[in-house]
Amino acid sequence: MKNPMAARVSGMQPTIFTTMTTLAIKHAAVNLGQGFPDFDPPPFIRDAALEALRGPFNQYAPGSGQLQLRQAIANRMADCYRLNYDPRDEILVTVGATEALFAAMMGLLNPGDEVILFEPCFDSYRPAIELAGATARNYTLRPPEWRIDPAELTTLIGPRTRLLLLNSPQNPNGKVYDRAELELIAELCIRHDLVAVTDEVYEAILFDDRQQVPLAGLPRMRERTLRISSLAKTFSVTGWKVGWATGPAELIEAMQRAKQFVTFCGAAPLQIAGAKALEIGEEFYRQLAADYRKRRDFLSALLRDCGMNVLQPQGTYYLMVDISDLGRGNDIEFCRWLVEQIGVAAIPAGPFYADPTDGQNLVRFAFCKSWPILEEAARRLQQGFSR
Ligand SMILES: Cc1ncc(COP(=O)(O)O)c(C=O)c1O
Repeated sequence: MKNPMAARVSGMQPTIFTTMTTLAIKHAAVNLGQGFPDFDPPPFIRDAALEALRGPFNQYAPGSGQLQLRQAIANRMADCYRLNYDPRDEILVTVGATEALFAAMMGLLNPGDEVILFEPCFDSYRPAIELAGATARNYTLRPPEWRIDPAELTTLIGPRTRLLLLNSPQNPNGKVYDRAELELIAELCIRHDLVAVTDEVYEAILFDDRQQVPLAGLPRMRERTLRISSLAKTFSVTGWKVGWATGPAELIEAMQRAKQFVTFCGAAPLQIAGAKALEIGEEFYRQLAADYRKRRDFLSALLRDCGMNVLQPQGTYYLMVDISDLGRGNDIEFCRWLVEQIGVAAIPAGPFYADPTDGQNLVRFAFCKSWPILEEAARRLQQGFSR
């Protein structure tokens, strides 16, 4: 048989997360690589799922998602951000934020279009853009501040630019875009008639009194912004794959045209449970952020004690370190040494960039792990780095 793989996917290698998790298993390493919690979700969301499974929710959900969930999303958007969306045609439930991103690119981009992307970025963005026949124009944020230079950003925008994709809080660097940066981005989107797609899956994990500011809430941005989020990170249910997008009806419609022929709909009972979960009071969100803050501070102090230059995150459950002073090679060599010799897995930052050498001095650690795992990582790192 001749090579059965289509050209459009042949350049897409297995993700770095798969590679590092395989290595972590092989070396019985503590896995601070892939971004999923190793602890159980809160009981209320599991109970809600069990109840939904026993109820009349086991057949296809409507294509745009269970109405209860769309209503709960609308309520939360109004309560938290004073953004009003009509559950009938301005909210689309998807199979995780990943499908929402994919459907947005498929539904909004034509071949030859260009997309402004801020890197380092989540690894599904580029393939989604490319599968839609479009091209990413990368704005490379530089540590330690990861700030945007307005002139440099403006030069990326040309006649073919159609869309700007923003992730705040940002994986992998934990950046939370401040109001001045969001205003600059909004101004560019309006001036150049761009659609904005915002990935806000870490909206509930912010540190040091930061507040989430959706780009959609800035003046004249609601009408051109698709905002994506998910249950995964807030409720520690990455395996559920329940996400959504909110936006004006014409953008939601474009997404749904693509989504309907990929999955049609996601897991119906989990959507009902998601609706229940979104009714939880503010104390849950305060606790979540406080809890992750403790884990962040623990891991930052530990890695600093090992001589690493920690780039303190403002949100998400990741932190990056600059390894250039350690003399252990580039990101990939360092991560290999760390997993094989110290027994701790982390993620080399190269794959978060279009040009992997831009991330060759950076490594990402995830701290969405239970305390015994974090303490075991501490024991191994302290021992390994004192040798
Ligand atoms: C920035 C970002 N967007 C989207 C996702 C995927 O979300 P979901 O599991 O809801 O598809 C992740 C998961 O790590 C992420 O980090």
